Amino acid sequence: MDSPAARTHGRPAITLSGIAYGCDYNPEQWGPETWREDVELMNEAGVDLVAINIFGWSQIEPRPGEYDWSDLDAVIELVHSHGIRVNLGTGTSSPPPWLTALHPEILPTTADGTTRFPGGRQAWCPSSSVFRQHAVALVEKVAERYGSHPAVALWHVSNELGCHNALCYCDESAAAFRGWLQRRYVSIEALNEAWGTSFWSQRYSAWDEILPPRLTISLGNPTQAIDFHRFSSEQLLDHYRSEAAVIRRHSTAPITTNFMVTAHIRNLDYWSWAAEMDVVANDHYLDHRLSDPVAELSFAADLTRGLAGGAPWLLMEQSTGAVNWQPYNIAKAPGQMMRNSLTHVARGADGVSFFQWRASQQGSEKFHSALVPHAGTDTATWREVVELGATLDRLDEVAGTRVVADVAVVFSWESWWAGDGDARPSQGVEYLDQVHAAYRALHGLGVTTDIVSPDADLTRYRLVVAPCLYMVSDDQAAAIDAFVAAGGHALITFFSGIVDQDDRVRLGGYPGAFRELLGIVAEEFAPLLPAHQVTLDTGAHGRWWTERMRTTTAKVIASYLDGPAAGDPAITRNIYGAGVAWYVATALDPEDLRDVMRTAVQEAGAGADGPESDGSIEVVRRAGAGRSYVFVINHSERDLEHRVVGHELITGERVVDLLRVPAGSVRVVREDTTP
Ligand code: GAL
Repeated sequence: MDSPAARTHGRPAITLSGIAYGCDYNPEQWGPETWREDVELMNEAGVDLVAINIFGWSQIEPRPGEYDWSDLDAVIELVHSHGIRVNLGTGTSSPPPWLTALHPEILPTTADGTTRFPGGRQAWCPSSSVFRQHAVALVEKVAERYGSHPAVALWHVSNELGCHNALCYCDESAAAFRGWLQRRYVSIEALNEAWGTSFWSQRYSAWDEILPPRLTISLGNPTQAIDFHRFSSEQLLDHYRSEAAVIRRHSTAPITTNFMVTAHIRNLDYWSWAAEMDVVANDHYLDHRLSDPVAELSFAADLTRGLAGGAPWLLMEQSTGAVNWQPYNIAKAPGQMMRNSLTHVARGADGVSFFQWRASQQGSEKFHSALVPHAGTDTATWREVVELGATLDRLDEVAGTRVVADVAVVFSWESWWAGDGDARPSQGVEYLDQVHAAYRALHGLGVTTDIVSPDADLTRYRLVVAPCLYMVSDDQAAAIDAFVAAGGHALITFFSGIVDQDDRVRLGGYPGAFRELLGIVAEEFAPLLPAHQVTLDTGAHGRWWTERMRTTTAKVIASYLDGPAAGDPAITRNIYGAGVAWYVATALDPEDLRDVMRTAVQEAGAGADGPESDGSIEVVRRAGAGRSYVFVINHSERDLEHRVVGHELITGERVVDLLRVPAGSVRVVREDTTP
């Protein structure tokens, strides 16, 4: 990626020229004969970056303090001699059996106090000092041995930190949690105040009475649960720091770990992690349990770009075909792997990697797809793998450029944790669903969207969308307020602005922090039963949520014709300072939400890069250093045309006016004039 834009914290950016093509490579599952075939095939496919030693601990340290580097040395030399760079794992992701046998106290404990046994992976407690000590000792050895090896282009700390073990409730975690709380609140009184412990006789008199939010007989304390999420995210980040600090002493190569910005993992607040990565990397798997996996992929890519602060990032894992961990593991359609890969590139990735190189013959992932399938290389998968490598080569010049967006969606892990709490007004309202719904409306309009933190600088945007932003600090609310007052446009959806950072309801009527900005006041939530829907006087429909509210300064755009809030406003628009603030008080049907969004986008003067579609056509522009590239991704079953002038990189054709993109294909045009 060789991108000056990548976050480097004074360290060199990863030095691969162009768009990297890579995979997890687990040679320990195979013998040397296979390794030789592997590197030849990697060269054939154009794979130039392999992640190795991800699960290597039990091989390289087979007994406590006894190291065997022979295989790892041989593999690193072999890939190096074939011009392939190494994304070197620290190997600490899963402890070897000897460690958990020697120190069972490192095993993770679930909320009901049950120990989880070894035999799978990631069987360690993030607060375990014994685990940390052993992990750091291993990193010292690995970094010492390979820190200056010319093949090492990138360091891969652990693997998907917190994928399984983010929340540990053991006694050592309890002690660490108490220490974290003491640092956060200083006095027990301040903690009592923040947690609202006057409720249900929960008032603490000493720190050692406090526990993690272990399973209770009734509902637990919501602020305790939110603080436990904050603590747990920080514990794992601290683990990352300890490994990274060791590597830094031995190597100048950039360091990262693979995030899980994907629909089903929510435990880590990556806004606080991202700044510590030399390059942001993400793993993404299509989740077929979602109603719109295509839009979710684009959302995840845009969120990863947001985490990277707009800089190029790395797609560290995806699958060539089916995964093995969903109830129904859907194979990718022909061409889908190419489209998905280039969607990530269109949205800012300077590298495309996969899990994994060769499909395992044994173990619990043996039915997970790979670049080399069980059936070998005379397969459609392998032909697509080779084609993808050639295509990425043709896109090398795109590396380093950036996506520019006029519209931002605010995304908050804290609102996810807090807003999806156990005792919320409606279990039918889930934070991520509502964020996806807002994103999908923009995606279908062809609008390129940044996903930003609630603490982001919003000034460069024309429209800011805040879906279900339940928890906001005073400063975060003030930033949205100031953005609109200065002429920006905002669209906020229901269940936003309700509580402060301690989950304390903002009094005086909903939506608390945004009442004045939106020019409305609601006195009561009026959620709907799952089978119900309400009709608005515009003909639009809403589900899940309504509220009994009135306007103060806003204009009513639509009202409910029926339902528990019949006659009350459902969509409002408020002129605030030099800007405009919209409120949508129900979960509108997708087409209806898109209608409101279309008006908001147009009024804000935000541009669309592509046409309106059912989401099956994506057009995204990457630009920088006097160059610009238009990606047109056609997920549909019909050919399409897009107006652009320039040079098409995949076919090498000149495009004089209309670019033709065949059904299921992707085209990338270097524009003649940079907009
Ligand atoms: C990721 C993980 C990989 C592999 C993959 C399967 O969570 O990092 O090691 O398990 O999923 O989809």
